[in-house]
Amino acid sequence: SEPFTIAIDGPAASGKGTISRAVAARFGCAHLDTGLLYRAVGAKMLEGVPPVEAARTLTAADLEAGDLRTAEIADAASKVAVIADVRAALVDFQRAFARRAGGAVLDGRDIGTVICPQAEVKLFVTASPEVRAHRRYLELIAKGARTTEDEVLADVIARDERDRDRATAPLRAAEDAVFIDTSHLGIEDAVEAAVEVIAAKR
Ligand code: C5P
Repeated sequence: SEPFTIAIDGPAASGKGTISRAVAARFGCAHLDTGLLYRAVGAKMLEGVPPVEAARTLTAADLEAGDLRTAEIADAASKVAVIADVRAALVDFQRAFARRAGGAVLDGRDIGTVICPQAEVKLFVTASPEVRAHRRYLELIAKGARTTEDEVLADVIARDERDRDRATAPLRAAEDAVFIDTSHLGIEDAVEAAVEVIAAKR
């Protein structure tokens, strides 16, 4: 079938990851969580590899190496993500993934604006900082991390600011993106809202 790209952007813990996985399953297309690319580069930086070199030599195996979903790696990811040469090194891989036969869902911060401005569908998923911090807190606690909700909220706000204020590919909605605010939506309703938008264009 024809390539069909679904771009899903939004801040940390907005629900975009959950929505992306569900939408990919529903429409039978491939899914790339682009945050993992930046997390993998961040993890390498913490091991002492210069970030631009890490980005240029990144392989699929690096995306599966260990637990990349820790608070420490999230913070490192948002630091390497401000480096223009790191972002440039990751563009081709993401664009090739987006044009796969059978369609693709990519979620991140700059998919609709920079990576896939021609995407057939663009969603921008948001929720209030407090709701997002609460979700991330529950995820971290479930994994055995020791933290507080205030600490997670401070991290979420710091990471949002770094993502919004950077010069290269800042977090923002594409002009033609459809907004989904998940602050007061359960998972099923949030997924349904996304499915409706996509089904109308498919
Ligand atoms: O989505 P996730 O929380 O895994 O992303 C980690 C970090 O990677 C983000 O805070 C952001 O700085 C960066 N990122 C990015 N562009 C993307 C995806 C993630 O800059 N497309």
